Amino acid sequence: MTTLTPASDRIRTDLEDLAALVDPDLPGWSRVALTEVDIAGRHHAKRLMDQAGLETTIDAAGNVLGRLTSPRSGGRTIMVGSHTDTVPGGGRFDGMVGVVAAIEVVRCLRESGTVLNHDLLVVDFFSEEPNRFGLSCVGSRALVGQITADTLALTDAEGGRFGDALAAAGIDAARITGARMDFSRVDAFIELHIEQGPYLEEHGSQIGLVERITGLSRFKALFRGQRDHGGTTPMNRRRDAGCAAAGTVLAVERIASQEESSRGTAGTLTFTPTAVNVVTEQAEMSGEFRSPQGEWLDYARSEILAAAGTEASSRGVDVDFEFLPTQQPVTMDSALMGLCAESVDGLGLSRTTLFSGAEHDAAIIATQVPAVMLFVPSQGGRSHCPEEWTDHAEVTAGVTALAHSIVAVDSAELPGR
Ligand code: GLV
Ligand code: MN
Ligand code: MN
Repeated sequence: MTTLTPASDRIRTDLEDLAALVDPDLPGWSRVALTEVDIAGRHHAKRLMDQAGLETTIDAAGNVLGRLTSPRSGGRTIMVGSHTDTVPGGGRFDGMVGVVAAIEVVRCLRESGTVLNHDLLVVDFFSEEPNRFGLSCVGSRALVGQITADTLALTDAEGGRFGDALAAAGIDAARITGARMDFSRVDAFIELHIEQGPYLEEHGSQIGLVERITGLSRFKALFRGQRDHGGTTPMNRRRDAGCAAAGTVLAVERIASQEESSRGTAGTLTFTPTAVNVVTEQAEMSGEFRSPQGEWLDYARSEILAAAGTEASSRGVDVDFEFLPTQQPVTMDSALMGLCAESVDGLGLSRTTLFSGAEHDAAIIATQVPAVMLFVPSQGGRSHCPEEWTDHAEVTAGVTALAHSIVAVDSAELPGR
């Protein structure tokens, strides 16, 4: 059996070096897509891949790709990776762990003289987190052909076009729609990530095998009422758009609290005008529901639409409600999960199975090839915040599990391939 021993000090150094490349004007460890530090982060990942001996390139979608070619592969490939962008005010582990881990696996393979039957393609996906145009997983979507001319026309709060923002970040908008990858010789995608929730810690497990990645439905609502004097307008004569929106925010919480695996968040709310003594004329909100069950998302959509209608009409307020396209839950490949489980067991690591409430590039890539994810614990379940933390020993255990899972997948006879 091949034994690979990832070096915890190298993993730590790589994570710390990435954590130094952050926006000084934002809290936490912020490397938001489409900013200069994001470009610097991806170029840093490229340098690490170069140093690890990979043939590297940055593709037309801004993805950093590094290939370890095997003389035995005939071009058959296993993909592995994650992302280096962060949410504003984010932490040091979400995404970075998976990129650093993939590079460390390459170092271990080379040092141990292990030659795989596949090429190993390491990826740092561009713009995994929702960017200011509301689009997540841009790099992986480009690889599967989901970036279209309509996507490029998306606008941010200032009316700027996504296509122009890409150009400013050095990505040719004319080429991103053609950045589609040929997956015909890709046999598997594996992503190591932090859990970002409390499940593994609560269950005392070192490794989580992801069974499903959440489905997701986002919406925007614009409530239109009437601007009036806050002191002289009796309560029963108001058309307060702010109160209608506030009632809808609470409805998101009520609906999502009905099921253990469901989530609902009203992430933005803006009142116009913003004056303490004026009844709100317009309120704009956006929110999302998540669930590993697609039918529940349909239910949540109809419930929130009805709730917003009631909150508005009972106050004489009009509402425009818009749902963005639903992302259905994605099931991970059971054969790959079995191979990862055997590898984790063989290493004597404890494991459990769970669903991911966070979205991931793996869900996009899974539309093309069998995919699987491994999670390591997040301290206190905290993530998307500066406090996000996973002990280096836990990260190293995850990288070891990833390395052995790759070797197991590499030598397995997988059905249907
Ligand atoms: C990304 O991390 C998300 O789940 O929103
Ligand atoms: Mn994230
Ligand atoms: Mn992530």
